[in-house]
Amino acid sequence: MTEKDFLPQPYTKVVNKGSITWQAPSNIALVKYWGKKEHQIPANPSVSFTLNNCKTTTTLNYEKKKSPSQDFDFELYFEGKIKEDFKPKITTFFKRIEHYCPFLKEYHLTIKTENSFPHSSGIASSASGMSALALCVMSLEKELDPGMAEEFFNRKASFLARLGSGSACRSIKGKIVVWGKHDGIASSSDLFGVEYPGKVHEIFHNYQDTILLVDKGTKQVSSSVGHNLMHGHPFAEARFKQAHKNLEALTNVFQTGDLDDFMELVESEALTLHSMMMSSRPYFILMKPNTLEIINKIWEYRERTGMPICFTLDAGANVHVLYPEKHSEIILEFIKNELVAYCENEQYLCDRIGDGARRIEN
Ligand code: PMV
Repeated sequence: MTEKDFLPQPYTKVVNKGSITWQAPSNIALVKYWGKKEHQIPANPSVSFTLNNCKTTTTLNYEKKKSPSQDFDFELYFEGKIKEDFKPKITTFFKRIEHYCPFLKEYHLTIKTENSFPHSSGIASSASGMSALALCVMSLEKELDPGMAEEFFNRKASFLARLGSGSACRSIKGKIVVWGKHDGIASSSDLFGVEYPGKVHEIFHNYQDTILLVDKGTKQVSSSVGHNLMHGHPFAEARFKQAHKNLEALTNVFQTGDLDDFMELVESEALTLHSMMMSSRPYFILMKPNTLEIINKIWEYRERTGMPICFTLDAGANVHVLYPEKHSEIILEFIKNELVAYCENEQYLCDRIGDGARRIEN
């Protein structure tokens, strides 16, 4: 498929007024996306576990105007209150997708959005937020074009979400989602995320992710600035090649269920992501002392008990602790007794693999 496939056909229906709600999850990458080309095309393929509990719920109310307006006409409510400072991000998003959704300026839109996780938790809400909004926009498009096939709907929703925030395209459908062209995964694309098509060992069913909130402050460096620092980065090419290799290795691990290989690969990806940040110009360190304390405790515990527990990181100080469901009781005990003390206000979130976004009937 190419970008052109997402340009709309003439619409068959006229729709005046309505309301659509979608709930979309966050995701955690195992092979990381870091570095992009123009139009949010990733420099390397990535794969993520879809989360279940960390999610955004967005309602889009739409009302047709007498004539289309010059600018996008919308109001934005976050957790029940008008939120002016979120509007520029949404306007940028609408501008990027306008070509593919030309009907947007024909409507007055009211967007109401809320997250299931605390606002200042340091958890990026862009993945769940942009995917929920993209899905609402797609449901409106489907009202105008009721014959739209489900696969196309999901692909275009992911395609639009990607234009809002790259990793958001991995938050539409499926427990494990690949984004970015990889030779070993036939359906993979740079344009949208696809549900991982290969065999997945049952050990990964219901895999757990306990998110330790080490630092709830706002990000020191936005991810778009971070991605751009991969241009001219001395290790960029080697890193992009490594991501291809790691994704290939992970497809084997998904099949065999070899957790030693899984843990080594996932932790190495997390540390590589951070080492790319540390070796860019300007350089930065997003881990905090407590991030390292937690990592060391996890390693010590794993060494001592043989429990299959590992960590990954996103572009921040928080730690995602990953482990199979069958060990959750004992590992959660360890987390509460030994790791939670390193979290800001002892806050952590228990999550696990989920199935993707779902529409909520209004
Ligand atoms: O979607 P963005 O542009 O915020 O980038 C996210 C990048 C990482 O979270 C660090 C890695 C990933 O693949 O999700």
